[in-house]
Amino acid sequence: MCGIIGYVGGTNKAVEVILDGLTKLEYRGYDSAGIAIIENGKIFIEKKSGKLENLKNVMTTDKEAYVGIGHTRWATHGVPTDKNAHPHLSYDKKIAVVHNGIIENYSVLKEELINQGCEFTSDTDTEVVAHLYAKLYNGNPLEAMVKLLKKIRGTYALGIVNSDDPDRIVCARKDSPLIIGIGQDKNFIASDVPAILKYTRDIIFLDNEEIAIIEQTKVTITDKNGNELKKDINKIEWDMDQATKSGYPHFMLKEIDEEPKGVEKTLEIYVNPKGDIDFGETFSKIDFDKIEEIDIVACGTAYYAGLQGGHFLKKFAKVRTSVEIASEFRYSDPYINDKHLVIFISQSGETLDTLMALKTAREKNAKTLAITNVLGSSISREADLVIYTLAGPEISVASTKAYITQVVMLYLLSLYIGLKKKKISKKEYDESIDKIYSLGEKIGSVFFQKEKIKKLAIEIKDKKNGFYIGRGIDEKIAREGALKMKEISYIHTEAFPGGELKHGTIALIEKDTMVIVIDTQKDMVEKMISNAKEVKARGAFVIVLTQKSFKEMEEVADRIIYIDDIDDVVAPILAVVPLQLLAYYVADAKGLDVDKPRNLAKSVTVE
Ligand code: G6P
Repeated sequence: MCGIIGYVGGTNKAVEVILDGLTKLEYRGYDSAGIAIIENGKIFIEKKSGKLENLKNVMTTDKEAYVGIGHTRWATHGVPTDKNAHPHLSYDKKIAVVHNGIIENYSVLKEELINQGCEFTSDTDTEVVAHLYAKLYNGNPLEAMVKLLKKIRGTYALGIVNSDDPDRIVCARKDSPLIIGIGQDKNFIASDVPAILKYTRDIIFLDNEEIAIIEQTKVTITDKNGNELKKDINKIEWDMDQATKSGYPHFMLKEIDEEPKGVEKTLEIYVNPKGDIDFGETFSKIDFDKIEEIDIVACGTAYYAGLQGGHFLKKFAKVRTSVEIASEFRYSDPYINDKHLVIFISQSGETLDTLMALKTAREKNAKTLAITNVLGSSISREADLVIYTLAGPEISVASTKAYITQVVMLYLLSLYIGLKKKKISKKEYDESIDKIYSLGEKIGSVFFQKEKIKKLAIEIKDKKNGFYIGRGIDEKIAREGALKMKEISYIHTEAFPGGELKHGTIALIEKDTMVIVIDTQKDMVEKMISNAKEVKARGAFVIVLTQKSFKEMEEVADRIIYIDDIDDVVAPILAVVPLQLLAYYVADAKGLDVDKPRNLAKSVTVE
């Protein structure tokens, strides 16, 4: 949520580097974009509401400037207009600030600054930082930042340039991500790795309440009191082409196509040739017999992956498991203690609600485990244990390949805990491992039906509403299917347990209402046929998603999508893929911006 880039260099011109970085960060927010550079000892600033393209159209890249900051915005305080776009300037026009997060005490600070004669030009919380820093700066950037952090409250990743101190960027973070890129005669700050991967693979992860001063050949990092710290430099192993479209019309389609690879890599890295699951040494030291309950906590698609995971944990580890939305968990005074394992799932590892829920669980002495896709992310650093999903960078706002790898990881984790707690036999464990091995190949077979799914998408693209129904585990994937559809195609879709529709929602079914009936479980076929008949009798247009051999389902289907036959336990993971494709093709057929749906952001770093 909001993307930040900063550059201090000598060879590449600042505008070119910053616009390129913003292009890679645009997925974090596309309400507006802006840039501030130091040109001839003065700050030059340009910002435009709307997509980054609007800014690019008015910027020339050949300006003689080698220091600058840029920002893509997902609006919180103040509507998306030019004046509310970042960077924000101080009253004396010497300081420019980009910010990701929320300054919670901004209104008190704003009043104080207005009383001191500062004129505000935006409705944002960020502008107070620009004026405050200008007031606090007395020739020493570190001193000014230390004093600033004592005054502001909330969450922030900050990048500040100063025309009186033109060779450096001063930055700091608290609960919003910020990384530092170490280049050859050039250094960077960014919200995320893809923004600077073109220039360097050497990254320092700034921790909470740390300050960094970035110069062309030097980076100084201190704690919030200005005491210098020594930090490790991490090498990024993945490649840039994983973060580009590589000829695909949208990231989402490319990322769905990468799902078989993600599954295969997960199994290759976490299951050894003997079939044993290995999550590393720290993991093997945990006494799972002491774990009496498991909680899974996440947001959005990661939450729906958690719902599937909860099902696997109950099945294989036979442990009482609850799955909760992070923003609710935190404020529900959760009853957890040191006998609980709390699993936090997050693609980005930066979702603030999930991060705060993790802090709550730690305060209550629970064991915490993060499942995340981003190395060095805040959630991965805060948890006792970490497992990385191996989906590779996910750019499209709608999560697809990360979801699949999260579910596969939860499947493996459930088997691992089940065996450790002696709740499943080695035979069942081995057989269950074998079952997941066919998943990658079966996802590949869904891709052969792309044309059929596309045709169906064109047929349903003008529907206003849709209901997804399923029973048991299929109800969990119905929820993910409905979310995918609504977030990118703007069709109002909701998911319900098949048996529950008759308790209210069936009143909404009329002629041609779309109902997507999901059945991946052999023992549910008859029940789901009955539910499908109930809606058909009221005029619904029924789309069935089921396994190839469940031919009985054809009887109630106006349209049918098959997945290959696969063991019932793995079938729900596979069935999500056609639901993702259906949502993708509907959004594309409607001519929508698939990768950047309105009002959404990939990484939500505000509460
Ligand atoms: C946002 C994204 C979703 C994502 C959710 C949780 O809402 O648009 O795609 O599922 O955040 O993100 P996380 O990074 O924690 O998985």
